[in-house]
Amino acid sequence: MANATANEPILRVERLDKHFPIAGSNLTVQAATDVSFTIGRGETLGLVGESGSGKTTVGRCLLRLTDPTAGRIVFAGQDITTLSGHALRRLRPRIQMVFQDPHDSLNPRHRIADIVAEPLRLAGMHDARERAARVGELLEMVQLRGFGDRFPHQLTGGQAQRVAIARAIATKPDLIVLDEPTSALDIAVRADIINLLMRLQREFGASYLFISHDLTAVRHIADRVAIMYLGQLMEIAPAHALFRNQLHPYGKALLSSVLYPDPTATPARFVLEGEIPSPIHVPPACPLHTRCPLARPECATIPIWLEELAPGHATACTRAIAESWTTVPDVEPVAAMVGD
Ligand SMILES: Nc1ncnc2c1ncn2[C@@H]1O[C@H](COP(=O)(O)OP(=O)(O)OP(=O)(O)O)[C@@H](O)[C@H]1O
Ligand SMILES: [Mg+2]
Repeated sequence: MANATANEPILRVERLDKHFPIAGSNLTVQAATDVSFTIGRGETLGLVGESGSGKTTVGRCLLRLTDPTAGRIVFAGQDITTLSGHALRRLRPRIQMVFQDPHDSLNPRHRIADIVAEPLRLAGMHDARERAARVGELLEMVQLRGFGDRFPHQLTGGQAQRVAIARAIATKPDLIVLDEPTSALDIAVRADIINLLMRLQREFGASYLFISHDLTAVRHIADRVAIMYLGQLMEIAPAHALFRNQLHPYGKALLSSVLYPDPTATPARFVLEGEIPSPIHVPPACPLHTRCPLARPECATIPIWLEELAPGHATACTRAIAESWTTVPDVEPVAAMVGD
């Protein structure tokens, strides 16, 4: 791309909104609101957050599988927010996606070799022998040599996900959105898939958006991590910094479950109050204020923004920014609060 430089992020998402209208009303599901982040070349950004926080919606917007309501998506220096038709088809080989359930994402009537060849054909590789040679290489890379004649139902979950990965890397994309690529798999093969993804990234230099609930996997694979809550970004930081220290109460609550799996070992464990609100009625200002044990009145009125409080480490917590927290204070243990 003429206007892309080596230092420019491969992806720049600017103030992305995706709000789904609800038929028969003027309400919307606010799946993603004011989401901004970048992904560098060869970098892995982990995207985490509770179920329904908008992770898949953001991933689908990047691939233009769904149209953003507002905001901009700039890929390799080109604004792709409203591309359509031929221009969008030309983009397809450069951004790929791997889904959670590999068997759902592979056509059951097609042989593995044809599934992996499909994106090559769409990208204009019309010579059947050239395609077959490339498919052989790709299957070799994902350690499935000799599997080309099989059908998806003859594969284990882990093997099927390797096919999906081979298909995703076939056109040497610059960016791959990996939406929970291991969560449908047996625990025993999850690490194999993560290691395969990391090895392929070293070989090809593709960037990854790695969406996952598995924070252990995120910690292993991601260079930086972004945390979403009710469609909005709460915190974004280098992975090593985030797992050591959170600058947002939501980040602290989310990570406390992995960092301190034994609740008895952390008397002042940080727990959010109540249930997650509906994405149709997102609380104004900070969406977490209805559940946050550290919320102050201003958290319900001041609109949030992301501010960098440590190198590369930004938080959207109004209090953290006002008080320049370097770490989220622990709440008092419940026992102490009732005067134990
Ligand atoms: N096509 C759609 N129409 C209406 N609402 C939608 C649509 N797709 C997603 N949503 C809603 O948008 C919100 C965000 O959904 P999304 O699937 O992006 O969350 P997620 O973070 O990927 O969750 P999970 O971890 O369960 O995969 C949810 O409330 C969901 O119900
Ligand atoms: Mg999802």
